[in-house]
Amino acid sequence: MKYRRLGSTELKVSVVGVGTWQFGGDWGKAFTQREVDEILDKAYELGINLLDTAECYGPHHRSETFIGDYLSRRGRDRWVLATKFGHHWEDKWQHDWSAASVHRQLDESLKALQTDYIDLYQFHSGDNDVFDNDELWTMLDKQVQEGKIRNLGISIGSNDNLHQTSKAKELNAKAIQVVYNRLDKKPETRVFPSCIEQDLGVLARVPLASGFLSGKYKPGAVFEDNVRKNRDRTDMDAQLAEVETIAREEVPQGTDMATWALAWCLKHPAVTTVIPGCKSPEQVEANAASASLELVKDDHPQAWKA
Ligand SMILES: NC(=O)c1ccc[n+]([C@@H]2O[C@H](COP(=O)([O-])OP(=O)(O)OC[C@H]3O[C@@H](n4cnc5c(N)ncnc54)[C@H](OP(=O)(O)O)[C@@H]3O)[C@@H](O)[C@H]2O)c1
Repeated sequence: MKYRRLGSTELKVSVVGVGTWQFGGDWGKAFTQREVDEILDKAYELGINLLDTAECYGPHHRSETFIGDYLSRRGRDRWVLATKFGHHWEDKWQHDWSAASVHRQLDESLKALQTDYIDLYQFHSGDNDVFDNDELWTMLDKQVQEGKIRNLGISIGSNDNLHQTSKAKELNAKAIQVVYNRLDKKPETRVFPSCIEQDLGVLARVPLASGFLSGKYKPGAVFEDNVRKNRDRTDMDAQLAEVETIAREEVPQGTDMATWALAWCLKHPAVTTVIPGCKSPEQVEANAASASLELVKDDHPQAWKA
């Protein structure tokens, strides 16, 4: 595994982390604690130290609760924990960006995660009107001073949100989380240059384009899970056809496509780490291998244009 400093924070994160939206149950599989343990044990064994979760991955902080249970038995200190705020549960998840609600959300996340601090606490993809709220950021700053939060981050919803990205330093946020993958290179134009200029860490999310860049799905593939089942058929088939072309023209023979797709993201100088969502120890293993897959310049011409 390789490690990089996350922006100007004190954190050294593995260049491959684990995204844990999957543990919440939206991806067509209900996880048991034992299955979560196996995934996280495999990640640890391979040197991964970064977990990305959120308040609203599954009802009642389910993903955070699985992680908290695991940490209580295996140890907290070895991990960098990134979670998010902006939602609270009332029969279903509701947006709430008020300072008072976010303060409560923080305490609930700490409880679920069975810890007294969060390494990276991220604004969870809200609009600009809820982002521009002095009271919220003042409250969060106080939590940083009290030690409940080590660092603040912003997970931008649209991957061209320069408004939120450009305000990061001013708000004492030290990392940006953004959708970035071989099918979606938009952050290269405006968001990444701003991240480099402000020395922000970058967590590339959805780096496998929701699994499409593993190469295992063909146009016409049918999905049953909550995340992919309602996507527009035409858009999905166009993306899956593009994946077939990429597999043929860009992925070196004999290389696992998921491993390649993550290594592709890591070539961009703005990207600190990729956080692929994982459903099994085998997926963790293929994803971790991207840390040592060196792509030569010609394998990735797009990144160098940024
Ligand atoms: N707004 C936000 O802040 C936000 C939004 C979205 C995601 N996130 C974070 O980013 C993480 C990653 O994004 P994502 O999970 O949406 O998308 P992703 O990482 O692009 O895709 C994850 C899916 O790809 C498949 N996969 C993973 N590794 C694989 C491998 N080695 N080989 C084959 N298939 C593999 C799995 O699904 P199948 O096996 O079923 O295909 C998995 O569920 C999330 O878990 C979450 O932590 C944050």
